[in-house]
Amino acid sequence: MHQKKEIVVSGIRPTGNLHLGNYVGAVKNFVKMQYEYDCYFFIADYHSLTTHPNPKDLHQNVKTVLAEYLACGLNPEDCALYIQSDLTEIPELYMLLNMHAYLGELERVASFKEKARTQPNNINAGLLTYPVLMAADIIIHKATKVPVGKDQEQHLELARTFGNRFNRMYACDLFPEPQAFNYGTDLIKVPGLHGGGKMSKSEGENSVINLADSPDTIRKKLSRAVTDSGPVEPNSTPSQSVQNLFDIMKVVSADDTRNHFIQAHASCTIRYGDLKKQLAEDIITFLTPVREQIAAIYADEQMLSKAAKTGAEKARASAAKTLREARELIGFKPF
Ligand code: TRP
Repeated sequence: MHQKKEIVVSGIRPTGNLHLGNYVGAVKNFVKMQYEYDCYFFIADYHSLTTHPNPKDLHQNVKTVLAEYLACGLNPEDCALYIQSDLTEIPELYMLLNMHAYLGELERVASFKEKARTQPNNINAGLLTYPVLMAADIIIHKATKVPVGKDQEQHLELARTFGNRFNRMYACDLFPEPQAFNYGTDLIKVPGLHGGGKMSKSEGENSVINLADSPDTIRKKLSRAVTDSGPVEPNSTPSQSVQNLFDIMKVVSADDTRNHFIQAHASCTIRYGDLKKQLAEDIITFLTPVREQIAAIYADEQMLSKAAKTGAEKARASAAKTLREARELIGFKPF
């Protein structure tokens, strides 16, 4: 018999450009998942309204994210890649779930408390109910697997709570429990260029390499990458900042190249200028096909519009079915 594939849902916030860390850490996994699961990936533009973006920025950001995910290999034929605001079913389920979401539990969410602290002049109801919208995103497709980072665990826990509560309330098993999901240990962490932890915009624009960065921008960023004053004793452990550059090499450079520099460090003959130059060229070689693809897709309005339409149709079919079932269980019946 035909085995039904498990359902995967993940939302992408439309904030700026994808960087190398996103690419090897997350997007490549999405690309793999689309062949193995029934995948729904969407651009979470409703969620982004909590911070009141101006209309032009919002549209630009959604377009950038769409073009970049397509360029990375998400294929509208193999997954449902859609824009959240194209589906009216999502806000409808969100509204229904809101009736069983309690102020106390929403106020306790860490991301809400953090936002309330950092933007005290904009503690809006959308911010408070952000986890309810996220739950609607997930359970509207009856997803069981949600590829997200650790920072989303609490939101995911609430998605389970709201789904289970609905099931109990209406004595049904409409919503299965969604669980966090990643391809286990092969989640590669790419560090940033400033000697800190993983590559992240919060470390500053110059510590990240965007997929769309020009070769010159990449060379400039690498030339400013943080190192140290050089090894003084043979076979000493590289400092964090230098190890970070070796770690990036693991992703983009040939093994021989990387080993050469590791040896040079061990024998105290390394020149960081050479290391940075080589790494810049290897990153450029690695990213050039993606960068060219991004530019081509970004300029192709017809392709973007077709992709968005195809995605919305697929997602709507699944969402409309669940919503119909939920409405009926609640007691909405046609006269
Ligand atoms: N909250 C997620 C983030 O900040 C984005 C998101 C919205 C999401 N809806 C989702 C992720 C549904 C997974 C599933 O990254």
